[in-house]
Amino acid sequence: MTGAGGQLGLDLLEAFTDHDVVGMAHADLDVSDEAAVADAVAFHTPQLVVNAAAWTDVDGCEEDPARAHRVNALGPWWLARACARLDATLVTVSTEHVFSGPAPTDGDTPRGWTEFDPVSPANVYGRTKAAGEQLVRQTLPRHHIVRTSWVTGARGNNFVTAILRAARERDHLDVVADEVGSPTATRDLATAIREVAVSGRYGTWHRTNDGYVSRVDQARAIVELAGIDVEVRPISGATLTRPAARPGWSVLDATHATAAGLMSLPHWRDGLVRLLEELGELPSPGGGAGGAATPPGSA
Ligand SMILES: NC(=O)c1ccc[n+]([C@@H]2O[C@H](COP(=O)([O-])OP(=O)(O)OC[C@H]3O[C@@H](n4cnc5c(N)ncnc54)[C@H](OP(=O)(O)O)[C@@H]3O)[C@@H](O)[C@H]2O)c1
Repeated sequence: MTGAGGQLGLDLLEAFTDHDVVGMAHADLDVSDEAAVADAVAFHTPQLVVNAAAWTDVDGCEEDPARAHRVNALGPWWLARACARLDATLVTVSTEHVFSGPAPTDGDTPRGWTEFDPVSPANVYGRTKAAGEQLVRQTLPRHHIVRTSWVTGARGNNFVTAILRAARERDHLDVVADEVGSPTATRDLATAIREVAVSGRYGTWHRTNDGYVSRVDQARAIVELAGIDVEVRPISGATLTRPAARPGWSVLDATHATAAGLMSLPHWRDGLVRLLEELGELPSPGGGAGGAATPPGSA
């Protein structure tokens, strides 16, 4: 498993405890180093490689597209090539940033992006992740590409930890109202990835927690559940100066996955409650503050 030190990688390691797993963090294996990847795969001779490594700094990718391409596009390709030599299976994780633009609709009803919608990335991160997908598809038939969105884990810097920290430092929070997505808890995603990995159902799959929400309403849910009294105000993403464009509609449709017999994931709010519990951020039933005085750093 690559990227084993990331928020998803750490939970994936626990989801695969019934397997004989070699977890490789960034310091153990740089996926952008073709020779190192070939050597590691040849040495460990895995039946299955799970790639949770990526350069996930969306604004950083915009400012250094060459590095983004090496990690997010070439990295999965080197892994796919190494897997092909052993006839091993590759799971690689991708993102809703391969899409952009307004929500597609069924009639007047907005729907999530499906596995069969054409990609349309609006930033370097999304373009390099889409390139990584394409390189894997054309290299290794035995692949699973798992696209997900708005990932949050207990051992990462992410939107939830950033909101918790900011809510304790400020008297109000300004949060984007015109970005909508499906927050996805790494615990649930790791379980879903494990299911896909052993399913033999090769191809591209959308796996997120169920339901969707705007960033501002997600922030409101976080502070409300954590019992923090802070005003959360809606703003437009257009008012923020950020190097990379963000998708306005980050909702991935799971119809194909569930129709093919893959599990339905819990609602995002359920995943959030369990994440806050894991962080020690849910107020105890008898009242009083949550257990963790200092949440991890911000995204
Ligand atoms: N976070 C999200 O909201 C989100 C949304 C959709 C999809 N995804 C996808 O989900 C997957 C897991 O992301 P995550 O949320 O767990 O992100 P994360 O916490 O940033 O984990 C990514 C890991 O990859 C490592 N990494 C970076 N460059 C590497 C390289 N060249 N070689 C090997 N490892 C490298 C990082 O190590 P260092 O930190 O030490 O560099 C980090 O441990 C990624 O494929 C990501 O694109 C994430």
